Amino acid sequence: MDKKKVAIIGVTGSVGQEFVRSLYNHPWFEVTQIAASERSAGKKYLDAIKNADGTISWDVGGEIPEYVKEMTVKSVDELDVSQLDMVFSAVESKAARDIETKMAAELPVISTSSAYRYESDVPILIPGINDEQAELLETQKKNRNWKGWVAPLPNCTTTGLAITLKPLLDRYGVKRVMMTSMQAISGGGKSGVSAMVITDNIIPYIPKEEGKVKLETKKILGKLRDGKIEDADIRISCTCTRVPVLDGHTESVFVETAKDIDPAKAKDIYNEYNQDISISGLPSAPEKYYAFHEDPTRPQPRMEREVGDGMTTTIGRVEREELFENGLKYVLFSHNKKMGSAKGAVLLAEMLYKKGKI
Ligand SMILES: NC(=O)c1ccc[n+]([C@@H]2O[C@H](COP(=O)([O-])OP(=O)(O)OC[C@H]3O[C@@H](n4cnc5c(N)ncnc54)[C@H](OP(=O)(O)O)[C@@H]3O)[C@@H](O)[C@H]2O)c1
Repeated sequence: MDKKKVAIIGVTGSVGQEFVRSLYNHPWFEVTQIAASERSAGKKYLDAIKNADGTISWDVGGEIPEYVKEMTVKSVDELDVSQLDMVFSAVESKAARDIETKMAAELPVISTSSAYRYESDVPILIPGINDEQAELLETQKKNRNWKGWVAPLPNCTTTGLAITLKPLLDRYGVKRVMMTSMQAISGGGKSGVSAMVITDNIIPYIPKEEGKVKLETKKILGKLRDGKIEDADIRISCTCTRVPVLDGHTESVFVETAKDIDPAKAKDIYNEYNQDISISGLPSAPEKYYAFHEDPTRPQPRMEREVGDGMTTTIGRVEREELFENGLKYVLFSHNKKMGSAKGAVLLAEMLYKKGKI
């Protein structure tokens, strides 16, 4: 089988490096071009990720895959789109807007940025959760007279929340949600918080994060009707904080459901979803989409982040919430750089490829 030729834009960044690893030896996709800013353009990959003191800044652990070491990083303008089938974009949202517009005019773009997330003809896709909204990509393509489309992932904090709410919404209805996040340092990218600021500390504010979580969760859990997404009718309040954890976001969630919900049944609900999940068998899919713990000391970032190679969402501390007539509280863990960005984007590409959209 001929592999689809793909480019990674933002290949030197935190998420870009995770893309390099997630696409290593991929059975369907081959990285044939890489790009970053003018700062890196023209350099071999290994030189582009060197620090000023000559040491290499490889943030994702393990060895740097051989295939990328000697590839030359291009500027976005130097990419030869005629030789590509798809682009993965991992640049910050301001720069991403122009880049993704230009790329989508020619070919499909899967993005980890927020540049296009809030447009009415753009679905925010989480494979296994709202696959049916992928049909909106055809509308987007027509509306904008593009040969491709932009399919963004959600913000990495939204991902775990939407994934864990979906089974509750389908079975019990969800009316209100309160969430406090404890987000990893790597979620801020290469230029995120400094060690001096985050060590022995918690930062109780992440710019724009709470608004993103509210908008995105309702859109993802909404329904596609007559070519438009109707947001889910859920009221959401959240506080997003940065904590001294390297990778993986933990979230404390309180959910008011429409129907009575027995916390003892929660494990069965998530296990049933594990059996039925649409992404089963895709190359980047974990064996279990949901992991459930009755041990009250789980989830913990250090213990959960390798589960399912970062693609499994872990749930624990499930209890009845007495503040609501019907409801639960729980704690979730979701890997921001794996399911929440690069590898989740590769899983999305696999889902869309299977649907014949790439
Ligand atoms: N970190 C996470 O956990 C996470 C999770 C979900 C979503 N996201 C989103 O993913 C995107 C990337 O995040 P990140 O954490 O990887 O950021 P990052 O570490 O700051 O990396 C940014 C990348 O974008 C490149 N870049 C910057 N300006 C560019 C331009 N004008 N043209 C081409 N490339 C340009 C940089 O290249 P140079 O090295 O050459 O400067 C670098 O490769 C952001 O939109 C972020 O919000 C991040």
